[in-house]
Amino acid sequence: MSLRASLLVFALGFAAFTVQAAEPIVIKFSHVVAPDTPKGRAAEYFKKLAEERTKGAVKVEVYPNSQLYKDREEMEALQLGAVQILAPSLAKFGPLGVRAFELFDLPYVFPNKETLYRVMDGDIGKKLFGMLEAKGITGMAFWDNGFKQMSANKPMRTVEDFKGLKMRIQSSKVLEAQMKALGANPQVMAFSEVYSALQQGVVDGTENPMSNLYTQKMHEVQKHLTLSDHGYLGYAVIVNKAFWAGLPPDIRATLDKAMADTTVFERKIAQEDNDQALAKVKAAGTTQIYTLPYRDRVVWQQALLPVHKEFEEKIGRDLINSAYLIAAQVEKEKAAQTKAPAAKDKPGPAKAKPAAKPAAKPATNPEKK
Ligand code: LMR
Repeated sequence: MSLRASLLVFALGFAAFTVQAAEPIVIKFSHVVAPDTPKGRAAEYFKKLAEERTKGAVKVEVYPNSQLYKDREEMEALQLGAVQILAPSLAKFGPLGVRAFELFDLPYVFPNKETLYRVMDGDIGKKLFGMLEAKGITGMAFWDNGFKQMSANKPMRTVEDFKGLKMRIQSSKVLEAQMKALGANPQVMAFSEVYSALQQGVVDGTENPMSNLYTQKMHEVQKHLTLSDHGYLGYAVIVNKAFWAGLPPDIRATLDKAMADTTVFERKIAQEDNDQALAKVKAAGTTQIYTLPYRDRVVWQQALLPVHKEFEEKIGRDLINSAYLIAAQVEKEKAAQTKAPAAKDKPGPAKAKPAAKPAAKPATNPEKK
C-alpha cells in the first residue's frame, strides 16, 4: 500500500473512532416529586423520546425526589448550568423576581382546565416565558398537575376552621396571602421537608393536588382532607438558556418536538393520576375526605377574592384581566355547546358572537377539574 493510501486508511479509521467515541450531550433533568406523578412520568417520557429520536446523541438523566437539589437550590443550579432542565411549580418563580407567574396561584381564578391551557399556550404563556430570558432561562412548556386540595389534622369545612392553622406553602406571596385571608398561618417550606414537618407537627396542614399528597404519603399524617379545588398547581419546564442556545440546531429542533409530544402526554395523564391518587387515599382509610359543597365554596371564594385585588399590581392588572377574559370566553363557549342540540330543532342564521367582556370577578362555579 502506498503511503498516501495508508494515510487515507488511517484518517478514515480515526474519523470512525472519533464518531463512535463522541460523548453524548448530557441533559440533567432534576425535579422534586416522586417518579410516579404526572411530572415524574413525563420527565421519563421526555428522556425516552429525546434519546430515541436523537439516536443516542443526547442522554437525559432524570433525578426525581429532590435527589440532586431542593426547590430553591434547583433554580440556582439551573442558572449556573449544573443542571439543564427543571420543571418547577409555577408558584416557585417569585423568588427569581418574576412575580407575574403568581397569576397561577390566585385562588379560584381558573374555573377549568380549558381556561388554563388557553392561558398557558397563548399570549400570557409567551409573555411569562419572555420574562425568564433575562434570568438566563428559556421556557419550554407548561405542564399540568391539577387543582389543589387542603389537608390538615383538623376538619376544614368553613373559613373559620382555618383560624390559627399552620399551613405549609410553596414560596409564593400569593399563597401566603391566600392562607392569611383564611386566617391560617402560612409557612414556606421546601417540598422535600413537608412529610416530616407534618409528621412532627411543625405544621398542621398543607395544600397540594392528590398525586403529590398520595406519593409523598402525606395522607398517613393528615387526618382530614377537603376537596376544595381552590387553587391550581402547574409547572413550567425550563432550560438553561446558554445551554439551549448552544445546542446544534437539529438536536434542538428534535428536543423541541420531543417536549411538545411529552406535553400532550403529560396533560393527558395528569387528571388520571390525580383521580387514581384520590381513590388510593380513600382506600387507605387514614384520612377523612370532605367535598366542599357549592354553597361553602362560594363563601371561601368571597373570603379569598381580596387576594386578587391585593396582587393586581405585582402580577399585572392586564394579565389578570386577560385570564378573566379567557375564563369568560370558555364559559360562553361551553354554554353555547350545551344549548347547541336545541338549535338543531330550529335552524336559523348564525349570529356573530359579541366580544367577551372581562369577568367582574372570578367564576363562581368552578367546574370540578
Ligand atoms: C410543592 O412544593 O408543593 C409542589 O410544587 C411540588 C411539585 O413540584 O409538584
